[in-house]
Amino acid sequence: MSRPAIARINLDALRHNLRALARRADRARLMAVVKANAYGHGLDIVAPALMEAGCRAFAVTDAAEGAALRRILGWEADIVALSGVFDAEDARWCAEARITPTLTETCQVTMLSAAGFRGNVWLKVDTGMRRLGSPDAAALLNACRQAGLGIAGLMSHLACADAPDHPLNQSQLEAFRAQLNALPERVPGSLLNSAGLATMPEAAMDVVRPGIALYGVEPVSERPLGLQPVMQLTSRIMQVRRIQRGESVSYGATFTARRNMRIAVVALGYADGLPRLLSNRGAAVRLAAPESRLPIVGRVCMDYCLLDVTEADASAGDEVEFWGPNLPAASVAAQARTIAYELFTGVGARVKREAHGAPLRERGAP
Ligand SMILES: Cc1ncc(COP(=O)(O)O)c(C=O)c1O
Repeated sequence: MSRPAIARINLDALRHNLRALARRADRARLMAVVKANAYGHGLDIVAPALMEAGCRAFAVTDAAEGAALRRILGWEADIVALSGVFDAEDARWCAEARITPTLTETCQVTMLSAAGFRGNVWLKVDTGMRRLGSPDAAALLNACRQAGLGIAGLMSHLACADAPDHPLNQSQLEAFRAQLNALPERVPGSLLNSAGLATMPEAAMDVVRPGIALYGVEPVSERPLGLQPVMQLTSRIMQVRRIQRGESVSYGATFTARRNMRIAVVALGYADGLPRLLSNRGAAVRLAAPESRLPIVGRVCMDYCLLDVTEADASAGDEVEFWGPNLPAASVAAQARTIAYELFTGVGARVKREAHGAPLRERGAP
């Protein structure tokens, strides 16, 4: 048997989420954010399913991810690199793979021109996140026009959209509208991520850029969008052992049995993406009996973790879920003092991604 750590990717749930977000976006075009290997879900699984469901615009982080996505999706897809252009090689990849980079600096225009890039670019302005963004969108736009580049639109990114009442939301929206209106020509606008779509759909403008919501995590729990979890992270019990009261388990002997117990050793550890912070505090569920939680006992190891199965009818070979339909990723993340984004993108390369749900049609490579 090969290593049984599996991330099941539910394509029916993915399509459901895409439809829910498209309805929420109303007339705005949806750009699916599939950076970082589709938030750890597997770019080669997620992107073709979205494309087949009607999505045409995709956002990755850089030209390298964009070139990989181009090989998967072919020439019909509109692929945007959110981090822009790092260097001359990046600019060349943008030209060759027809990636639309997001620019913040005029030096990037120079690099693109030198690479023979003749396509479109997004412009990015800062409106309060104070991360990437041009201080002068009009000057950047002029530099692009002089270099013969097309303008796909102007975007900005919200810092606090998951807190609906945060004053930055309104001030960023106003600043963004002011920047759009100050441009010498009308260009499409894009401000909203997943949480923005949940909290301020009236600001959808021309293009929205949801990421985490596509994967089924409600971006704002008090404004649910009816999303379904896409990833189910599972592995199998390798061995069930009895330990006596007073005996300890795993590295550091941080857990000592207060009674005689049954302990299951499961093939999933921190190298697979199970946070070590779940040591002695997280839980899993056995798929055969998902209503009862099996606490993680002792330290999570690189390749294994240990579950208390004293009260469960568990045996070697049983499949257990660490997050998914039975254990919401957001609550697991909260227990591990992180966010679902980090859980998903931390799923290790050795965890097999398996597509489930209605199959895709055969599609030709470019
Ligand atoms: C510029 C930009 N737009 C959109 C997104 C998608 O955000 P979310 O996953 O919160 O919807 C991200 C993600 O980090 C981003 O950096």
